[in-house]
Amino acid sequence: MKNEINIGLLGFGVVGSGVAQILDNHQEDLQHKLGVPVSIKKVLVKNLYKERDCDLPAEVFTTDLNEILGDSSIDLIVEVIGGTTEAREAIEKSLNAGKGVVTANKDVMAEYGLDLLQLADENKCDLFFEASVGGGIPLIRTLEDGLASDRISALTGIVNGTTNFILTKMKHDNMSYEDALAEATELGFAEADPSADVDGIDAARKMVILASLAFSTEVRLDDVFVRGLREIQDGDLELAAQFGYTLKLAGSAKKNCDGIEVAVEPVLVPDSHPLASVNNEFNAVYVYGEAVGETMFYGPGAGSLPTATSVTADIVAACRNLLMGVNGRRIHSPQHERHVKTDDRKFARYFHRIRVKDEVGVLTKLTAIYSRYGASLATVIQDSDNGIEADLIFITHQISRQQHLDIMNELNETPEVINVLSHYRVEGESR
Ligand code: HSE
Repeated sequence: MKNEINIGLLGFGVVGSGVAQILDNHQEDLQHKLGVPVSIKKVLVKNLYKERDCDLPAEVFTTDLNEILGDSSIDLIVEVIGGTTEAREAIEKSLNAGKGVVTANKDVMAEYGLDLLQLADENKCDLFFEASVGGGIPLIRTLEDGLASDRISALTGIVNGTTNFILTKMKHDNMSYEDALAEATELGFAEADPSADVDGIDAARKMVILASLAFSTEVRLDDVFVRGLREIQDGDLELAAQFGYTLKLAGSAKKNCDGIEVAVEPVLVPDSHPLASVNNEFNAVYVYGEAVGETMFYGPGAGSLPTATSVTADIVAACRNLLMGVNGRRIHSPQHERHVKTDDRKFARYFHRIRVKDEVGVLTKLTAIYSRYGASLATVIQDSDNGIEADLIFITHQISRQQHLDIMNELNETPEVINVLSHYRVEGESR
């Protein structure tokens, strides 16, 4: 039986330094929970001479991964380097060296998760990744353990803190998109390249991880329909508010007998829906289970200590397994074959904001297009006009994504349409 657990920490940025802080501040509690002390033995960094605000002695820092992997007293590797290539290699090498891995890396887990989990199984090692989705919210363990008895049919939620922070600041503080993004970056929420946040890629990776676990099937990044924040037009947030909606970058994953559908896109959420009041960097995910019904998980989705809390929870879980000698015993192979729905099997309500020539008969011509594609309209409103141009707002009843795309195409080819300013999926009912 081990009388201590030593960690090799790869990376000492926003999350890594948070992990060191929690392990230090909560040392006594962690030792009580595990029965043995857990400490950081080595830290892999790029620059040994960078000034660091921490209590770790200088000799724990190294630039050599092999020094960490070759140290037989190190039981567990914590990968918080971020990015793909270097992090993936480091995880593979760690697992091949027989060391369990805790990672916060959604990029790696979304793209190579299945292979890495298989490698972990082959090496009888744990590979835990709670912090890869939802920052401090225990979502992965909830899907793997808490809801293990149920069949999940849908997940929907806000899984990117940066974009939620931006949309909140734009709506409530009248901040510009650029200023809000700069503040999110300064607070450590945004990715090294924030286009991953604003273009929806970060959220798409998280949805791949969640959907794979929830539906026990392979989900690829290419399976996710992704649309980020950049297409949001001036006036959309105000217009949404006028109709009783809040614009949120949301992820959704659904499964039925036709297969799965996974998307990340700006959606209109009714103000009465709990997701509408999830603000700033907070995340929230609804999970619908056949037996349990509706559950919701809420908490900080980004930031040093919240994310480090999840990493440290994985450290505790991996330490328990090491101490009991049961590490690397999970079954990771997907239960179901991969079936992705085609667009004619994905149903939702849609909001269309269309700038048209303000002429007699235009409204009739446009509503005829919707009828031709079998789309029933729930709301038709003329928002503004200057006698020459007008904005028409249409909200449909449930239609397929294919119908939505066909209507968009035809609208764009209609001479009276100046342009389709914006279009969003609508979540649930408005007030
Ligand atoms: N950039 C990510 C976000 C960090 O804003 O949610 C947490 O994964």
